[in-house]
Amino acid sequence: MPGFFYKLIGLTSLLIQDNKPLRKIVMAEENKRPHVMIMSEITVDGKLTLKKGASSKILMKYMDHETDLLLHKTRAEYDAIMVGSNTIKIDNSFLTVRYVNGENPVRVIPNSTGDIPLDSNVLGSDAKTIVAVSKKAPLERIEAIKEKGADVLVCGEDKVELPLLMEILYSEYAVRKMMVEGGPTLNYYMLQDRLVDEVRLIHLPFIVGGADTPSLVGGMHIDSEEEMFRLTLKSHYMCGTNLVTEYDVMYGE
Ligand SMILES: NC(=O)c1ccc[n+]([C@@H]2O[C@H](COP(=O)([O-])OP(=O)(O)OC[C@H]3O[C@@H](n4cnc5c(N)ncnc54)[C@H](OP(=O)(O)O)[C@@H]3O)[C@@H](O)[C@H]2O)c1
Repeated sequence: MPGFFYKLIGLTSLLIQDNKPLRKIVMAEENKRPHVMIMSEITVDGKLTLKKGASSKILMKYMDHETDLLLHKTRAEYDAIMVGSNTIKIDNSFLTVRYVNGENPVRVIPNSTGDIPLDSNVLGSDAKTIVAVSKKAPLERIEAIKEKGADVLVCGEDKVELPLLMEILYSEYAVRKMMVEGGPTLNYYMLQDRLVDEVRLIHLPFIVGGADTPSLVGGMHIDSEEEMFRLTLKSHYMCGTNLVTEYDVMYGE
């Protein structure tokens, strides 16, 4: 019978499935990039919001207060928090620590052309913000974002090169732990680039439907089972009335 079991080899644990080793995340120090956790609120049907283009803040209103506390406590425990530029445009997120005491993480926004609105909450003075752009970003946009007080990093030709961004965050900003709060497009590319170590889901007891409603991971479909991202459940618990599940992401060799 096929089975999963762990083997501890030095500091690296290996997940063995059908005698094929899947290498588990190694320590941040070994990778020279931050340890990364995707944290997301998700409906029973795997959706992140009510419909395409709608803010996830509508769903988040239904989170138990204890879960709000967990989310903000987690933000305070992390050095940085990253969301995609479209989430900034739709949700206008603050990404700050509110319901608990603690320091705000550095806010990181990949945005190739630097076109996020200049009055975005994330460009406010509550916390440090890094906007990662590509060489496609017009100089005047870069200057305008810098004038708002944010750092601008040019990483990549067309799209923001996420592995390079992770390296810079690690080496120049001392980011050791980073959480990613979506959306689906960013989640997909982070997984595709093997930059995600953990996933923590806050399950909301709703079904919203909709074939094009954003779900946890967007991007391209896969062609075969070999391309599935494999996770292992490490913890599940109730936080107030919300189920929370935690997974490690396993990448093949
Ligand atoms: N429930 C939740 O926990 C939750 C959390 C977050 C978001 N959401 C929802 O998700 C939806 C938005 O998701 P989305 O998938 O449309 O957008 P997204 O993932 O927030 O942002 C994607 C955008 O980021 C920019 N980007 C730059 N470099 C990138 C790279 N290397 N890889 C990926 N993206 C890169 C791209 O735009 P440019 O480069 O052109 O700027 C890309 O289109 C909203 O409805 C929001 O409410 C839900």
